Amino acid sequence: MARYTVGWLPGDGIGPEVLAAARVVLDRLGFDAEYREADIGWECWRREGDAFPQRTIELLKTVDAALFGAITSKPLGAAEAELSPSLQGKGLTYRSPIVRMRQSFDLFVCLRPCRAYPANPLNYREGIDLVIFRENTEDLYAGVEFRPVPEELAGVLDRLSENFAPFSALAEDEYAVSCKLNTRAGSERIAREAFNFSRKRGRRKVTVVHKANVVRATDGMFLESARRVAEDYPDVMIDDANIDAVCMWLLKDPFNYDVLLAPNLYGDIVSDLCAQMVGGLGFGCSGNIGRELAVFEPTHGSAPKYSGMNKVNPIAAILAAKMMLEWLGEVEKATRLEEAVAAVIAEGTVRTYDMGGTSTTGEMAEAIASIL
Ligand code: NAI
Ligand code: MG
Repeated sequence: MARYTVGWLPGDGIGPEVLAAARVVLDRLGFDAEYREADIGWECWRREGDAFPQRTIELLKTVDAALFGAITSKPLGAAEAELSPSLQGKGLTYRSPIVRMRQSFDLFVCLRPCRAYPANPLNYREGIDLVIFRENTEDLYAGVEFRPVPEELAGVLDRLSENFAPFSALAEDEYAVSCKLNTRAGSERIAREAFNFSRKRGRRKVTVVHKANVVRATDGMFLESARRVAEDYPDVMIDDANIDAVCMWLLKDPFNYDVLLAPNLYGDIVSDLCAQMVGGLGFGCSGNIGRELAVFEPTHGSAPKYSGMNKVNPIAAILAAKMMLEWLGEVEKATRLEEAVAAVIAEGTVRTYDMGGTSTTGEMAEAIASIL
């Protein structure tokens, strides 16, 4: 029997290509796993009216970790129109399988390391090495949204809120409400993950990203929770910055930051910024980590215009595989894989189009695998 069972979720678009590339290097490393493939994404939606079918959920309950490629998402109208004819008009609504996966398995940590590998022509600066801890289940992404706003809610808002009232004077389709929901427990557990990681990895500083001077209730709680947790980690510095300011300061001096801790939306924003500083979509990888399951993925989407062309950069997916190895405790393999990626980047002859070269997805995977 294989040592690990790994959920294998290629998705659609370039997802299958980049996961195939990740598999080449995992096999070459001698990673002892049984891969269990499962359906997720757009084709699933079109065929079955569900982008994250129950059988995939059941399968994910049986694995040690999972690797996920990418999926296509479209707005509600387009989603309905692309359903197979027999499923149309049944009131099926498209919901993002990624958000559902994060919520149904309580994958509350979104971990995004952003490291500039030496001599990558896409590096913003050499030597950038940032790590983002983004809260992954709460905040503006909690999914508590109203459009149209029910009368009942308008009445409550009129009664309880001095700002923006009277809500009931607005027609129900003239405004919308998305709730930013943050709990103390949710804020503390992500903070603890960030500080634990920093201590273990010898990181010097955690910067809490927020907007607590304006968004007082929720961001206030997030910041306060982080400060409370920080008391248990006197060996790690805590610092904080507003989301807008930190975007500016990160560009000005990325070396002033180390680990960034943020609620869901700000974490999403700041991780795209940081990913771009170390090479962009071909390099950004992330882990969605819970207590029972962790799902690793390149952060890019399905890039439909490159689908099936064997052209995109598989490094993001390969680094996601590296994160998975690390999380499973296969540190030696993870380190070897990262060194091989770094060596190919530094050597500079094998480069995909985004790096200014003409190498294919498969050639990049093979170049990395050949070092292994
Ligand atoms: P995208 O990330 O799929 O692609 C945007 C552009 O980035 C591509 O056209 C390509 O130029 C470049 N790119 C992406 N991955 C690359 C790689 N590995 N190597 C080199 N270049 C790469 O974002 P887009 O076009 O906004 O979205 C396409 C679809 O993907 C949409 O349906 C969107 O909803 C979905 N999406 C899915 C995500 C996921 O599965 N996690 C995340 C983001 C978007
Ligand atoms: Mg994003």
